[in-house]
Amino acid sequence: MNNFGQSIKNIAKISPFIRKKGKLWFLLSLIQAAYNGVTPFVSALLYGAMINHLIHYFQDRESGVYQVFYLLILQLCLAQFSYLIRMFQAYFMKKFEFDLDHDLKFLTNQKVAKSPLSYFDIPEFYNQLNRVRGSVSSKFLHPIMNMFQIFQHIVTLLSVIGYLISVHWIFAVLCIVVFIPLTITQLKLSKNRYLVSYLQSRDSREIGYIANLFSDKASIKEIKIFNLSNHLNERWSQRFRIVSGQILTLARKQQWIDFGLQTGTTLFFTGISFFILFGKNSKVTQVGDFYTITQMIQNVQNSFTQLSYLTGSIYEETLYIQDFYEFIEYGDPAFAEAAAAAAAESPPTAAVQFQDSIEFDSVSYRYVNSDAEALKDVSFQIKKGEKIAIVGTNGSGKTTLIKCLLGLYPIREGNITIDGVSLHEVSPQNLQELMTVVFQDFTKYAFSAHDNIAFGDIQKYRDRELLVAAAEKSGVHQFVQHFADGYDTALGRLLADGEELSGGQWQKIAFARALFRDSEIMILDEPTAALDPYAEMEIYKEFEKLTRNRTTIFISHRMAAAKLADRIVVMQAGKVAEVGTHQELIERNGVYREMFELQAEWYR
Ligand SMILES: Nc1ncnc2c1ncn2[C@@H]1O[C@H](COP(=O)(O)OP(=O)(O)OP(=O)(O)O)[C@@H](O)[C@H]1O
Ligand SMILES: [Mg+2]
Repeated sequence: MNNFGQSIKNIAKISPFIRKKGKLWFLLSLIQAAYNGVTPFVSALLYGAMINHLIHYFQDRESGVYQVFYLLILQLCLAQFSYLIRMFQAYFMKKFEFDLDHDLKFLTNQKVAKSPLSYFDIPEFYNQLNRVRGSVSSKFLHPIMNMFQIFQHIVTLLSVIGYLISVHWIFAVLCIVVFIPLTITQLKLSKNRYLVSYLQSRDSREIGYIANLFSDKASIKEIKIFNLSNHLNERWSQRFRIVSGQILTLARKQQWIDFGLQTGTTLFFTGISFFILFGKNSKVTQVGDFYTITQMIQNVQNSFTQLSYLTGSIYEETLYIQDFYEFIEYGDPAFAEAAAAAAAESPPTAAVQFQDSIEFDSVSYRYVNSDAEALKDVSFQIKKGEKIAIVGTNGSGKTTLIKCLLGLYPIREGNITIDGVSLHEVSPQNLQELMTVVFQDFTKYAFSAHDNIAFGDIQKYRDRELLVAAAEKSGVHQFVQHFADGYDTALGRLLADGEELSGGQWQKIAFARALFRDSEIMILDEPTAALDPYAEMEIYKEFEKLTRNRTTIFISHRMAAAKLADRIVVMQAGKVAEVGTHQELIERNGVYREMFELQAEWYR
């Protein structure tokens, strides 16, 4: 019964939510359970009495008619009252469900926002996130509703068994003998069921992922061109069969066991009924009493089956709650260690102005799910106001470098300092104010053009003038001004009937978003990759102006753009291969020169 104890603990975690918004629902559910619990007992008595009176009435038409009438009215009242409770209970349940859904999803989003990016590379965390998405509140409420039902059946059993024992003591012993094996079997089965849902979660995710590919505009394009639909559909179907097969196997097993248990208990109770009714010293003398007793025996049997099923499934259902809290409380041990060690020395509250320089000092970084180091012993310096270009082959660590600098991936080896203050000590807010970034895989928000740019600095959300200025500099204004609703036009067609943008136009939007946040340090990961030659030229012509008084770090595969930088850092397989001005690096005759000349070839 260890599992049951754990289940109760899990259920207890919901109590703060109930205290906050669900008191009325809880009270109504409790009343409902108690009421429904005694109903079978009262009903069996009422109907028994009614049958006896009816028989009298049929025998001589004088007696019993009023009693039958009263009993019918009473029965009607009982049913109406039950309906009334159910009505209120259902409404308040819906209300509480919404509140709970809201609060739990809010918690989840908060957790996601607070988690370091590196967590998302950990399958354990990511899987758990997927498991806690979906209909959270109903999964939270299910086990409590189960508890109420358990309570209801206990009330039924107590009332009915009490009555039966008053008829014959043998019931007391027999009920216990039947109940215990039933419950144990159900508990065992329910544990298996959950394990399957755990095991299949990878396959389930793939099923969901492929289904998504078929509903995403971008991927449908490729599916059509590469003629992938048959292959993907096959793959989807295969996974689907595996998962459904596992579930069905378990269901079959469960059903056969249920059937066996049912047959056993039915035979058992039938035997007892015979014994009670027709054995020696039977107290049953009237048809109505016969009805009452058989009805009660059926109630006992039904409640026992329900009880064992409910106690069995409650464990399974509360595991979801446990999962949810494991997710909310998740901490990557390795990360927690590094962060705690750093935080122990001094909490990350330092504020830096950035007056002097950023320094990478022997920085190495390895992604959690990978064996190879993405950065190896990286050291170089960036002075305030400098324009630094980072070049290098695909996968050489350029993006990783800036993700570490932004604090998205806290480093564990080496040090990054701003004006001599370690990044670990700088408060996250300070860091965010200091830097702005356009990522290689920037986000395209399906909101208005205004939103898309203003998200760069939510403090200045309403400053349209400043926003238009940023839009003009990045070439956004030229096309947005022609939209029907100007800056209030939605972009993309996901949420509203908006304007669809080209890849380059989206990139200009992302650039405007970065410009809108007027930060000291500007980081651009291939900001012009999708731009046409005019737009690119325009940006680079403006580059001097746009980045004046700012420290700029930009990654580019266009060597001509790198030429504009004050200094160039050349990455190769996670290491810094060369650092210097364009002229210096050309003279050095190394990797940079090779790359530069290779590209220059094209334009000759
Ligand atoms: N989330 C991740 N988990 C594990 N490995 C990663 C992750 N992101 C990147 N890597 C690996 O780290 C290495 C460096 O990747 P990075 O994205 O920094 O390269 P890059 O220089 O920006 O390349 P590109 O020019 O293609 O953008 C690569 O080998 C890549 O496979
Ligand atoms: Mg990159």
